[in-house]
Formats: sequence, C-alpha cells, structure tokens
Amino acid sequence: MEELHLGLEGIYFNESKICLVDGVQGKLYYRGYSIEDLAEKSNFEEVCYLLLYGSLPRREELERFKEKMRKRRGLNEKTVELIFEGAGKEHAMSTLRTAFSSISAYENYDDDYERSISIISKISTIVAAIGRAMKKKEYVEPSSELDHAENFLYMLNGTYNKESAKVLDKMMILHAEHSSNASTFASLVSTSTLSDIYSSIVSAISTLKGPLHGGADEAALRMIYEIKSPENAEKYVEEALKDKKKIMGFGHRVYKTYDPRAKVIKSTLLGLLNSGDEEVKNLAAIALEVEKIMVNKLGKSHGIWPNVDFFSGPVYRSMDIPPELFTPIFAMSRSPGWCAHIIEYSANNKLIRPLEKYTGEIGLEYKSIDERG
Ligand code: SDX
Repeated sequence: MEELHLGLEGIYFNESKICLVDGVQGKLYYRGYSIEDLAEKSNFEEVCYLLLYGSLPRREELERFKEKMRKRRGLNEKTVELIFEGAGKEHAMSTLRTAFSSISAYENYDDDYERSISIISKISTIVAAIGRAMKKKEYVEPSSELDHAENFLYMLNGTYNKESAKVLDKMMILHAEHSSNASTFASLVSTSTLSDIYSSIVSAISTLKGPLHGGADEAALRMIYEIKSPENAEKYVEEALKDKKKIMGFGHRVYKTYDPRAKVIKSTLLGLLNSGDEEVKNLAAIALEVEKIMVNKLGKSHGIWPNVDFFSGPVYRSMDIPPELFTPIFAMSRSPGWCAHIIEYSANNKLIRPLEKYTGEIGLEYKSIDERG
C-alpha cells in the first residue's frame, strides 16, 4: 500500500551541507555556524560568501567578493522600465518576478558562482527601485562605495543611517537561508531539469510570494495594524482561531518550538518599545501581546510558535519600509541561500519527479459530442 505524504511532509528528498534546521531543539546552522553567532558577529556579504563557497572568507577574499557585488549592482535601462511600468499595478513580488526575469538577457558570466554574485547584488537594486516606483519617486542608481545593506537603504530612501543599515544587515542574515523550504525546493525542481539559474530563481521568487511562506511577514503586520491596540489582541486572536483562521507569523512545518530567528528579531523589536515613533511603539506592543496569547494557547499544546515572519514587520516599519516591500526584502535576503542550493544540487543532479496517487476513474467509453446530450 503506497504511503501518501501530503505536501511531502517529513520526506527527505536530498542530502546537503548548507544548512541544518533543528525543529525540535529550535536551532539553525549555516555551514555549521549557529545563526545566533552569525547574526551577532558576521555581515550579509560574509554570510553570502559562506553559503556559496562553504567556508568563512579570509579578509582579501571578502574584499574581492564585496567588490564584485558593488560592481554588479547596476540594472539595464529596460529592467528599470519594467519596474516603473509594473509597480503599483500589481503586487511588488510580481514586479520583482517580472523585472528579475529580464536581467538574464544582459548577463554573460562563465559559471553559476559568478552568476550568483550578480543575482544577489541585482535583486536588491530591483527591490529598492520597486520601492521608489511605488512612492512615485525617481530611480536612484546604486552607489559603488556603500556596503550591501547601506546601499539598499540609500537606493530606497535616497539616504541611509548606519544604525538602520546594521539592523537591516542582521535581518538579511536571518533570512539568508533555510534548507529545503518551499521556495528553495521550487528552485531545485527547476534546476533538476537542467534549466538555468535565472529560471530557477524565478521559480523561487514566484513561490516565496505566498502568505503561507514569505508573504507571511506582510500579512502579519497587516493583522497587527487591524488589531489596533494591545487590549484588542485577546479578542482578535480568539475570534480568528474560532473561525479556523491562521495567525500569520506563527507555526512552521519544521520548527515545533520557538523559531531561533524570531528570538533574535524579538530582541531587536524590544528596543522599539523606547522608539520615539508612537506608531512603531504601538505595533511592537501589539506584537508582544499577540505572542503572549498565542504561546499560551497554541505553543506547548500544539507546537505553534512565532516564526521568522512574525516580528519582522514592526522592525521593517521602524526603518520606514512599506509592508508590500517586506517579502521582496525576504527574497533579496534569501537569494544567497537559493543560489547555494542550486549550485550544490547541480553538482549531483537528479530529476525531481515524485508520484501522485491517482483516485479518478479509468476505462471510460469515449462518446462523440453529439452523443453527450
Ligand atoms: C516561512 O519552510 C520554511 O523553512 C519556511 C521559512 C523559511 O525561512 O523559508 O521558515 C519561512 O515560510 C515561515 C512560515 C510563514 N508562514 C506563516 O506564518 C503562515 C501561518 N502558518 C501556517 O500557515 C502554518 O503554520 C505553516 C504553513 C507555516 C505550516 O503548516 P503545516 O506544516 O502544513 O501545518 P498545517 O497548516 O497542517 O497546521 C497543522 C495544524 C492545523 O490545525 P488542524 O487543521 O490540524 O486542526 O495547526 C494549525 C492548523 O490549522 N495551525 C495554525 C497555524 N499554523 C498551523 N492555526 C492557527 N494559526 C497558525 N499560524
């Protein structure tokens, strides 16, 4: 009797040396380094190098890598046109998917490592340009001096400050990789047919968009706004659960305990309680109240805890980033993880083609259109 695993739940489809997600202990490692150490001591460019090449770079290796990223930030004018045509007419993730698709026509690198550096670099330029277009502002060309997170905020807001850039850099590290999550898996299905890395990344972007995956960060903040004040949280959560609604930013296919990334982001969020911005303070207070209620209701009893998407919204809002840009920022942060898996899987490729259990009819007699009444 063939066993059915809906959503491939609990199925190992591959072996990898890139990332360990320990859902029982609530631990996460990139290439053997704990996420807590990397979030506190590393930087996004160094984590990209680690994920792609498998080891921490020496100083000159990191400098060379960062120089390549700085040099590959620029977009072809046709890509910029696509961004300004699409933004505002569709969700920012759809504009990201379309604009990203266009870059392959203007790239000519020898291997997927070089293509990956360009992809990681350009995705953030595209996301910043989408943010400008959404605010009906001019496109800002990337700086060739600033580090990755600084440059993103500079392209998005026309200016940046070191403190926000440090917070964004940490958020990007926390979102950089997560084993065989849905968008990485989608990229590997494309890779396994021997398609190209750009097409595989389009599959990943398209998959990340959904609110059960990367889209949860935007959905969670919209829910927090809907709640309006911490006093309303209990009633809101009670009614949502009664109506069998999912509380966005909670629960996980693998973590059956607190997501270690959410713990790190929560510590950043606690700092927002002293923020001068009343709206941000209120969002943080509501988030902490919802967390308390959900952990009491569904934590220990059901293994439903905050995930990486729950506290991200108030933190991004404190940097004046619009909610619709949260998932595109997730995509630009996850691009090194996607690329690392594509390169690793390609080296030992196997077409991904699972079975489907047929439950329909067979042997039906064909009737012509006239005989069908
Ligand atoms: C990410 O895979 C990854 O690693 C992803 C990610 C990454 O870094 O790439 O970690 C990023 O996508 C995090 C998850 C973001 N999504 C959300 O926050 C959306 C809300 N969460 C749920 O939709 C859900 O928890 C999933 C989709 C994340 C996981 O769902 P599963 O494993 O398919 O489990 P399920 O939906 O079958 O839930 C099991 C039970 C159900 O109750 P019953 O039908 O059995 O009575 O738990 C309930 C669910 O209703 N449940 C929730 C809930 N999550 C699960 N109930 C209320 N609120 C929730 N958030």
